[in-house]
Amino acid sequence: MLITGGAGMIGSTIAHLAVAQGARVTILDAMLPLYGGNRFNLRGILDEVQFIEGDIRDLDLMRRVVPGYDYIFSLAGQVSYVDSNTEPLLDLDINCKGHLQVLEACRRENPQAKLLFASSRFVYGRIEYNPVDENHPFNCLSIYGIHKLAGEKYYHFYHEAYGLKTVSVRIANPYGPRQQMKHSKYGIVNWFVRLALDGQPLTVFGDGQQHRDYIFNEDLAEGCLALMLSPGTEGQVYNLGTGTGVPFIEMARLVAAALPGTELRQVEWPQDRYFVETGDYLGEITRITVATGWQPKTTLKDGIAQTVAYYREHRQEYW
Ligand SMILES: NC(=O)c1ccc[n+]([C@@H]2O[C@H](COP(=O)([O-])OP(=O)(O)OC[C@H]3O[C@@H](n4cnc5c(N)ncnc54)[C@H](O)[C@@H]3O)[C@@H](O)[C@H]2O)c1
Repeated sequence: MLITGGAGMIGSTIAHLAVAQGARVTILDAMLPLYGGNRFNLRGILDEVQFIEGDIRDLDLMRRVVPGYDYIFSLAGQVSYVDSNTEPLLDLDINCKGHLQVLEACRRENPQAKLLFASSRFVYGRIEYNPVDENHPFNCLSIYGIHKLAGEKYYHFYHEAYGLKTVSVRIANPYGPRQQMKHSKYGIVNWFVRLALDGQPLTVFGDGQQHRDYIFNEDLAEGCLALMLSPGTEGQVYNLGTGTGVPFIEMARLVAAALPGTELRQVEWPQDRYFVETGDYLGEITRITVATGWQPKTTLKDGIAQTVAYYREHRQEYW
């Protein structure tokens, strides 16, 4: 299998699971500064995978790379919704044009491959009802959400028009080992873990009662593999989360409890953040569980404990 963005958090976790199951894995990653690519994420399997430092926006490279794979995880991406609004053209370039090039490369060189595209709960934007099923309206509140939706549509179009086997996943709020920890623009659970490990207070906006669906990285990777390997998922889109909502403040308390002595602070919502606040999010995951039999296994408390233990041990690789 080929994993684009495979040196990042989700891709490298899929790579570890796939290698353990005997798969032949190639990773392609542009290793862009400040994104999540980190060779340390591949510790223990670097000798077993093929690593290509390359960019999905390079069509000639992608045409040379894609032949011969049965499965292609399309995870390369600009991940920060904050940056997508300040640098919309860069987001367009990677999250739309880059993925169109992956699709074009496959259409021309490997139309048999099955492709999984990593979309996001951000396509739903402002939430109108919970639990959010896959038919919820698209009220995107960020350029990132708009471009992820376009990405899904591209993958679906290539399925309908050219018969490519494509599937998209709308990922909830992932956290866990192997996420970059240099800045706060990715998942908040990991950022709180970093602050707590640094002895800094955790700041919660407003009453912290907004619900989120936090999914442990390894459960998420297993869900992606299950969708890839299950027949009949082509041409579909699936929510991927735990299916349960946890108040933000409870998540913050769990992080603080995992690192005793951590202070929790509550402050007013800053205006710029309030605009992109989606409201409670609780994903309906029946579609993926029925299609694949996959179920999330890790409680938030256990997942946070594993995350804390990982960064305690490997802090120098991520700070
Ligand atoms: N982390 C989240 O909160 C989240 C939530 C929903 C969806 N997703 C999506 O899942 C995918 C993987 O995210 P992640 O959390 O593992 O992030 P990550 O930053 O850890 O991994 C993404 C990887 O893609 C690589 N990359 C970026 N642009 C590239 C390009 N043009 N060509 C090749 N490689 C490139 C980066 O170097 C990085 O290693 C992304 O598409 C992201 O948008 C992430």
